[in-house]
Amino acid sequence: MPKNIMKRTTILVGAQWGDEGKGKIIDLLTENSDIIVRYQGGNNAGHTVRYGDKKFILHLLPSGILHPGKKCVIGNGVVIDLEAFFHEIEILRESNVFVKNRLFVSDRAHLIFPYHRLLDQLREGQKGSGKIGTTKRGIGPCYADKADRLGIRVADLMNPKVFRDRLTYVLKEQNHILQAVYRHQPFSFSKIHREYTHYRDRLSPFVCSTELLLAEAHRAKKRILFEGAQGTHLDVDHGTYPYVTSSNASAGGAITGTGLSPAHIEEVIGVVKAYTTRVGEGPFPTEFPPALMAMVRELGEEFGATTGRPRRCGWFDALLVKHSVLVNGLSKMAVTKLDVLDTLPTIKICVAYQYKGKQFRNFPADQEVLAHAKPVYVECPGWLEQTSHIREWKKLPAKAKSYLTRLEDMLETRISIVSIGSERLQTIFIDGK
Ligand code: GDP
Ligand code: IMO
Ligand code: MG
Repeated sequence: MPKNIMKRTTILVGAQWGDEGKGKIIDLLTENSDIIVRYQGGNNAGHTVRYGDKKFILHLLPSGILHPGKKCVIGNGVVIDLEAFFHEIEILRESNVFVKNRLFVSDRAHLIFPYHRLLDQLREGQKGSGKIGTTKRGIGPCYADKADRLGIRVADLMNPKVFRDRLTYVLKEQNHILQAVYRHQPFSFSKIHREYTHYRDRLSPFVCSTELLLAEAHRAKKRILFEGAQGTHLDVDHGTYPYVTSSNASAGGAITGTGLSPAHIEEVIGVVKAYTTRVGEGPFPTEFPPALMAMVRELGEEFGATTGRPRRCGWFDALLVKHSVLVNGLSKMAVTKLDVLDTLPTIKICVAYQYKGKQFRNFPADQEVLAHAKPVYVECPGWLEQTSHIREWKKLPAKAKSYLTRLEDMLETRISIVSIGSERLQTIFIDGK
């Protein structure tokens, strides 16, 4: 990989609705990094890394953990399910990947509790047609409690007295909601207290002030890579609200979610699929009709890495990604899954939306427009050749290069990586064309 493919402090974000292939790209960039940092989300993420016949799906730990010797940080902006945390460490251990002395967890990160998971399920169950289609991991309720000053942080768990007092106070409130609103039986204080006290001893070796660790690493000129989870359009501020996750998945989240100064960020790279997918509910203007959907879903193996749900698929939406370029300040893009389009005779790119006689060239916030807008497409001829064996830009079929160049022109952003398969080696680095 060319050294200049990324700068010393780089944020990598998903520029669509998640599952863009961030795991694969993070894995590649880890080679050029010293520290890999998750800054938001939790185990709702599913980042796939594949090498040889091995496949790992990281949910909570940074994808860089697969590289021995690299340090990994779970920042204060992440919400941590401790059961998932230790389960993931165990899965890695079984494959001889060890995390001791190189995995660090922020003492300010918030913890997911069983009542968060239950509330996520109950709320989704009750919403009927208004449901979000969450991963039911308790992510939304945990972030809601954080904002409502009802959260419990890692530091709170580490102090037995604080934890007992805090859990007593918080559980009273949670049980009240469960009983009064959902007619559900309450959680037992002693059961949760016992379970989490047990976790305390196991978690303790990983816990530190990660903002200090990162500031010192930055001062020592270490290379820091921020691993976004989800995608810009699932961001609670910049996404297709309310069909979003509950954190800031876009670049701003890397600042608030770690405590590293914004002045230290040198670059933001966006990952985009060569088409579009989304899991869960919410608007999707360029969604395919059923037959094409079934075909591309099969070609791209588009099934959720966390929940196994089939992903909705559609054409590349330039309005959607242009919005991501803007709110993240993307200077480069990695385009993934180009190979999935190899057999399509025509490939479309959405360049505008049409609604009630009005044309939209920028991604609108209005839910009604997004739900009913008719996409305006430009058509590109397909290349109808296999690409997954190609390793150099100049060897890509001319029509594939022309599709990618068109995306660059529309988005006014350079493509520096093209991925044509899920394996590490199935990658083209573009170091000047
Ligand atoms: P993430 O959440 O952004 O890390 O993406 P996921 O891991 O959820 O989903 C991406 C899927 O596409 C995974 O199964 C990857 O192994 C796979 N993948 C990544 N890049 C490519 C590619 O260029 N071509 C193909 N065919 N598959 C890819
Ligand atoms: P990665 O990091 C794709 C979606 C869910 C749902 C919405 C809210 O693998 O790209 P939540 O459980 O977060 O409250 O669900 O967000 N979602 C994702 N979609 N990729 C993800 O992560 C996602 N994480 C959450 O499907 O629509
Ligand atoms: Mg994923």
